Amino acid sequence: METKVIILKENYQRGIEEAGKIIRDGGVVAFPTETVYGLGADALNVNAVEKIFRAKGRPQDNPLIVHIADLNDIEPLVKNIPYIAKKLMEKFWPGPLTLILEKSDNIPDVTSAGLKTVGIRMPSNKVARDFIRETKRPIAAPSANISGRPSPTTVDSCVEDLNGKVECIIGGENSQVGVESTIVDCTVYPPCILRPGGVTLEMLKDVYKEIYIDSAIMKKPKKDFAPKAPGMKYRHYAPKAPLKIIDGDLQKTIEKINEIVQNYIDDKKVGIMATEETKNYYKRGVIVSLGSRKNPEEIAKNLFRVLRSFDDMNVEAIYSEAFEEKEIGVAIMNRLKKAAGFNIEKV
Ligand code: TXA
Ligand code: MG
Repeated sequence: METKVIILKENYQRGIEEAGKIIRDGGVVAFPTETVYGLGADALNVNAVEKIFRAKGRPQDNPLIVHIADLNDIEPLVKNIPYIAKKLMEKFWPGPLTLILEKSDNIPDVTSAGLKTVGIRMPSNKVARDFIRETKRPIAAPSANISGRPSPTTVDSCVEDLNGKVECIIGGENSQVGVESTIVDCTVYPPCILRPGGVTLEMLKDVYKEIYIDSAIMKKPKKDFAPKAPGMKYRHYAPKAPLKIIDGDLQKTIEKINEIVQNYIDDKKVGIMATEETKNYYKRGVIVSLGSRKNPEEIAKNLFRVLRSFDDMNVEAIYSEAFEEKEIGVAIMNRLKKAAGFNIEKV
């Protein structure tokens, strides 16, 4: 299949219209959102949704999030909207928050992977909303990566993963948040965070203080672990080379990583995920800064792009510093730990 890549510039309106038509014709389109790029299809069209699973190589038991452009679009998709969900929508939509609600019969089983619930999200990114509005459909969209790889936050990453596999890729700008949306299950009481993201636990608690984060999320999953967000059980976000997190006092972390890297014969073969504050203290290796520790939002934004860049540089191993698990740091460490397969050394 030939993939049409539309970089939106002066052609903006034409590009959006073209992508909208592809969706109405049952095709799939990768598009930017503020979190990561998504791979969209008409959520109510079984054939179109099946194409998403095929293009990504995604396991059938992993449900898709349904994206809407306007509040009125939610009504036909869910059975009811609990009071707390309404409050969260008012405060955080449009934005990086997905709410799990009871699904209506309109949503086919393939979209919800047979669950009785559905995740709904209203993105804030302008292209995403113009595109969804133009399709006149609810848009099922997982992250636009091949299953298992780090999510794409740039149009180039989408092309890398999906060229020849989907009808169209639109975009140009990089994703602002850089990690996927926060998922809150509103079908249970109190509501529970199934995946940490750009809307933090601290922000959610401001609206409803009983909201909590499923503690199992940050731990290495046991063999028979069945998380409430099915996707959280899969190996994920992983670069090709094995990644190890060195966690502890920054000075000790630098010493430890320097000590490990010392033993590599060729220093171009080992990647180091550093920060602005630490990057000059590493002696060897391919040192890439994720950004400043004073600005964890920047670190979240760069995380997947940096993980992917190590694949391009063909390093044999990657070592990363750790980050404080508060606010957006919870999402950063969740993705980093999964990318590392929970290979963490405390120093
Ligand atoms: O930011 C995002 O959410 C991005 C952009 C494209 O919007 N999308 C995204 O989709 O991250 P995906 O498919 O890569 O991750 C969706 C996660 C999976 O772990 C899936 O298992 C979970 O959401 N999920 C979807 N529907 C669910 C449901 N009804 N109940 C529990 N978990 C659900
Ligand atoms: Mg994903």
